[in-house]
Amino acid sequence: MKQKILVTGGAGYIGSHTILELLGAGQEVMAVDNLANSHREAINRVSKLSNSPLKFTVGDIRNTQFLDDVFSQFAPDVVIHFAGRKSVKESFEKPLEYYDSNVSGSRSLLQAMSSANCHKIIFSSSAAVYGAPVYLPLDESHPTNPLNPYGRTKLMVEQIITDWCASDSDRSAISLRYFNPIGAHTSGLIGEAPNGKPNNLMPHIAQVAIGMAPFLRVFGDDHDTRDGTGERDYIHVVDLARAHALSLEHLASVIGHEIINAGTGTGVTVLELVSAFEHASGKKIPKSIVDKRVGDTASSYADASRARELLGWEPEFDLEAMCRDAWVWQDGNKFGYG
Ligand code: NAD
Ligand code: WQD
Repeated sequence: MKQKILVTGGAGYIGSHTILELLGAGQEVMAVDNLANSHREAINRVSKLSNSPLKFTVGDIRNTQFLDDVFSQFAPDVVIHFAGRKSVKESFEKPLEYYDSNVSGSRSLLQAMSSANCHKIIFSSSAAVYGAPVYLPLDESHPTNPLNPYGRTKLMVEQIITDWCASDSDRSAISLRYFNPIGAHTSGLIGEAPNGKPNNLMPHIAQVAIGMAPFLRVFGDDHDTRDGTGERDYIHVVDLARAHALSLEHLASVIGHEIINAGTGTGVTVLELVSAFEHASGKKIPKSIVDKRVGDTASSYADASRARELLGWEPEFDLEAMCRDAWVWQDGNKFGYG
């Protein structure tokens, strides 16, 4: 069914890939972004790749007047809400900015939706809401106990969305708890291009591969995993984008607020990811073992059965493809979009 979809944070890494997927499926899309961690060029490239019209406005979701104008102009049926800040490290340094952008921003968005009678939202949540695993794989009933301000903002927004849905039976929502998205669109034209220093593993590996960093620091080799390095659930960003397109279809039958993990269910260690990247890129990644990162858990991976059952979602890309596409993007765009 063709719908009008407002995408917040649409110029960002996951937002841009999702918009491409939505336009490919014939949806009508408007993107908003304050460009705090992204570039307008991402939108230009999505437009070019899809060969479809894409409306884009620069603005901040905390600005009520801005949002009211967007809703009255575009009248979306559904909102896909990516906008927010995502660095765990920075969330310890600037917690109030995280509560402001992520929590107040989401509250302001829900307020604008309420005023405009827009009843449906898909929210970018995170596996960070679980905290240290009590058991594995992590299913959606696993206790939530986020270990950092970033994770707490995500959990708070989930709770706000639950209350927002409960207050009006027309409202419904899906929160997708992403595990570790990596890779890029196979065209190599869009990918992850954070402003400033990256925090996550894959952008670090990619920077070493193109010579922008001399070696990869591996945070600990004495975790309780098969090779001692941290184990995570990597998901190709295009598979994640598809999970959003499928969520849009599923949302029509959702009552209230549904939580769904977005991971593949397979754990991969740091050394396994490095080795897959070396194979896919033909580049050697020098590495040095350093101390464990404070607050890191040994293993985190999803029970992905709910996404399979409710959305009919299956990952299409394996680890090799994730590494190949991350490399093609990085090799062709050494300075991101800049
Ligand atoms: P990203 O930083 O590339 O995209 C977020 C976008 O939101 C950016 O373009 C940024 O400029 C914009 N933005 C931030 N604050 C805004 C505001 N107040 N108003 C308008 N725009 C604003 O990040 P991403 O990796 O694409 O992540 C998208 C969402 O998914 C985020 O909410 C993030 O927390 C969540 N998430 C990401 C990961 C991951 O590993 N990438 C994992 C779990 C959850
Ligand atoms: C993966 C593994 C590190 C960098 C973070 C957020 C989480 C979510 C996903 C948004 C770990 C190791 C890393 C490096 C390394 N984001 N590593 N050297 O820790 O799963 O989670 O991103 O919601 O909230 O916390 O991902 O990519 O940072 O780390 O050895 O230079 O790589 O120790 O084992 P993580 P990550």
